[in-house]
Amino acid sequence: MFETLKVMQASYGDRRIEDLFKMDATRADGFQAETGEMRLDYSKTNIDTATRSALIELCHRAHLPERSEAMFAGRRINATEGRAVLHTALRNLDGGPVMMDGADVMPGVLDTLARMRQFAERLRGDGAISDVVNIGIGGSDLGPAMAVRALSPYHDGPRCHFVSNVDGADIADCLAALDPGRTLVIVASKTFTTVETMTNARTARAWLIDGGGDPSRQFVALSSAAEKTAAFGIPGNQVFGFEDWVGGRYSVWGPIGLSLMIAIGPQAFDAFLRGGQAMDRHFRAAPMGENMPVMLALTGIWHHQVCGYGTRAVLPYDQRLAFLPPYLQQLEMESNGKSVALDGTLLDVPSGPVVWGAPGTNGQHAFYQLIHQGTDVVPCEFMIAAQGHEPDLAHHHHLLVANCLAQSKALMQGRSLDLAREKAADLGYQGAELECQARHRVFAGNRPSVTLVYPQLTPFVLGQIVALYEHRVFVEGVILGVNSFDQWGVELGKELASSLGPVVDGDQTVEGLDGSTAALVGFVHRHSRGG
Ligand code: F6P
Repeated sequence: MFETLKVMQASYGDRRIEDLFKMDATRADGFQAETGEMRLDYSKTNIDTATRSALIELCHRAHLPERSEAMFAGRRINATEGRAVLHTALRNLDGGPVMMDGADVMPGVLDTLARMRQFAERLRGDGAISDVVNIGIGGSDLGPAMAVRALSPYHDGPRCHFVSNVDGADIADCLAALDPGRTLVIVASKTFTTVETMTNARTARAWLIDGGGDPSRQFVALSSAAEKTAAFGIPGNQVFGFEDWVGGRYSVWGPIGLSLMIAIGPQAFDAFLRGGQAMDRHFRAAPMGENMPVMLALTGIWHHQVCGYGTRAVLPYDQRLAFLPPYLQQLEMESNGKSVALDGTLLDVPSGPVVWGAPGTNGQHAFYQLIHQGTDVVPCEFMIAAQGHEPDLAHHHHLLVANCLAQSKALMQGRSLDLAREKAADLGYQGAELECQARHRVFAGNRPSVTLVYPQLTPFVLGQIVALYEHRVFVEGVILGVNSFDQWGVELGKELASSLGPVVDGDQTVEGLDGSTAALVGFVHRHSRGG
């Protein structure tokens, strides 16, 4: 599938990105995509006009426009689960009907949104609740936790906390600081069966009752499983449902975003939705070469599937996007970490890459050493706002911007052996010692990066960023030919955890387990005292 591109890449040899700028003074403007006030710069990659055309040709061969319209039109493109993929309808605030199986889904979407607004307004207004605890995991946690952290300058509602891990430490630490009489517990689970979430929900209910709270008033459910939420004892008017065409990792736009709406208010939540909707419109309308999600996806395909770089770092120079890398890990790796194509045949190309990262500048003092001088090339995705939210601390922001730009520049230009020798000579080294010291100071450079710049991290811009990445994952999935909307790979671990539960409890013996697992269970039994 990528033969032409691989031949191109081989023909570039050790061509330097810097030389592409020397050959084309307009490169910075020619290799970027813009929408609204956001700009994606991919000029610091080894992609040239011919590469870009060949990459875009991949999209045509994979019928990207048709696949994309099939998604927006409510076709059941999640074939292994027989479901449509319509999270875009959740942010279709003024976009008209969205049909699925001949029926418009928008009245239901808008009705639930109106109920969420009403609930959030009341909660924010009456002051009885000081803290909200969202209990969920995966998509029922990562999206709202990321967005609540990202939009902290807009918080004017109750404090929001997130509990996800079944490790009792998570909920214990969270509840320790809270007043059971003034806490709202949101149980966020599409299926309402996820073991971690249900275990934490029962623990929170017991804590609330012990503390004199009233679970019938202080528990809310965000779920598609109405029967199960009722069985848990949550009254119907405190349940916010959504359909099976909203995948877990795509669900922050609807009821799963309730904690965000409570924190920042319905108006700001609307702005978040509108940002997502703006990106949808751009994605559907912009020609491929100017299409931000398409071009972001194609840089990903180029670096991973063609160049063979194994991982990709997401590096937001925005402390409030600290939870974006884990959010994107689920979005990208749960979506495109597949070995089988839609038609059931084995993939003959690498699936999606390992995605990782942390905010700058912190990462610079941790793992950037490897990015600059390690033997593996790590394509980087930098993100930076033109301005922060702290006008009195503008000098901090200027330093942040300077650092972000310095990193992508350093990765591209590197430092030659000659320059390193000059450095070593300046430091007083001579002869063989100078040569050795110089080699340690060489940076190969020519390491690719893309940079996303935006005016400020507002609710609207965050909506754009999240939808940008969703569509990027979609485009990569279409090119690879995988189903980006199922996640069978998490099943086996869940099944084995439930069968190992009684063994860890001591109700069943280790008989039949592999030697390693049996030995580890034995260690736990010998060293635990019920803790
Ligand atoms: O990890 C698998 C998964 O199904 C995710 O896709 C999902 O976001 C998460 O578990 C939580 O699921 P639920 O919302 O049903 O509790």
